[in-house]
Amino acid sequence: MNNSITPDIFYIGQDDADIRLFESQYVTPDGMCYNSYLIMDEKIAIMDTSDSRTLETWKTDLAAALAGRQPDYLVVHHLEPDHASGIADVVAMYPGIHVVCTAKAAQMLPLYFENPSVVENVLTVKEGDTLSLGKHQLTFVMAPMVHWPEVMMTYDSTDKVLFSADGFGKFGVIEADLDDWACEARRYYFNICGKYGAPVSAVIKKAAALEIQQILPLHGPILKDEMLAEALRLYSIWSSYGVEAEGVFVAYASIHGCTKVAAEKLAEILKAKGCKKVSVADLCREDQAEAIEDAFKYGKIVLAASSYDAGLFPPMYDFIHHLQIKAWQNREVALIENGSWAPSAGRVMKEMLGEMKNVTLKGEVVTLKGRMKESDIPALEALADAILQ
Ligand code: FEO
Repeated sequence: MNNSITPDIFYIGQDDADIRLFESQYVTPDGMCYNSYLIMDEKIAIMDTSDSRTLETWKTDLAAALAGRQPDYLVVHHLEPDHASGIADVVAMYPGIHVVCTAKAAQMLPLYFENPSVVENVLTVKEGDTLSLGKHQLTFVMAPMVHWPEVMMTYDSTDKVLFSADGFGKFGVIEADLDDWACEARRYYFNICGKYGAPVSAVIKKAAALEIQQILPLHGPILKDEMLAEALRLYSIWSSYGVEAEGVFVAYASIHGCTKVAAEKLAEILKAKGCKKVSVADLCREDQAEAIEDAFKYGKIVLAASSYDAGLFPPMYDFIHHLQIKAWQNREVALIENGSWAPSAGRVMKEMLGEMKNVTLKGEVVTLKGRMKESDIPALEALADAILQ
């Protein structure tokens, strides 16, 4: 890619094409990127560093981009190690450089860096504070809990760009899936920031008051033009736990395939009744992060699970637990349970869903015993009617 974003802002981020498990839990078939930028003005600001996996190439690229000049500021938007692993190196390479960050980040710096020189030249900033680099005027926008408490964003009013930290990020190397930003951005958002809808909404409201031509996130491509408009539209839905797409998401956890047959039958019935989009996921074999994404994408969900140890089959338990900790809400749910002698999955699913905000159960729980039989079909038909209502 062209490393020049504007005449004075340069991309020095790093692709990590080989990483297959970001944050030790999210599969990343297209790798990941850790974005970092350089603003070259009378004063020079480095905007974030890199993950330790790519730190050496990042330092080389930084030195090349600086072309012998000394940087004045290292702006730290987010202290998580995928972006902040190079802070001590930068402070050592460029003595006297100011580390610009929030008070919370300053407090947290010693958690990651024991060398006192890292905190010696910290410049803490708060909401609305400004920093002039010469031509470029930076304004700091606090963004706590997007995704950690110390996060901030920076608005460059000269070039009208917003450095958005993890906000508007995406899985994949920087040029992966440019034609379908939403797919991996959605999986990233709900799994990493899903719990923090209110703080994300708050920062989007602040951003709405700014004239933004480009968003420069810490992961994924730079957003401008139609892609920027679409990202802002989707973030407004996602952060308010709104329904993005019409359709039904059917998620099943089946031990020997009997519950799977019922879930697939239900999907077939839903389609026959006119539901244009039915997405089906096998929670035992497919990427759970993808299933979480679909649970947020659609407004109507069917959960089908086997009973297990007088409770719920663990893959479904784990899935609902993940939805709970991501603050999943505002959804309609229908349930199918299976249990050959003492069905218990429905009871546990109801209990877990009952703890969530504005999750409404639709229809009666359909109880299967072993293999699905012709006699089970009317109950599945009724469940389909209830969820489509
Ligand atoms: Fe990309 Fe929350 O770090």
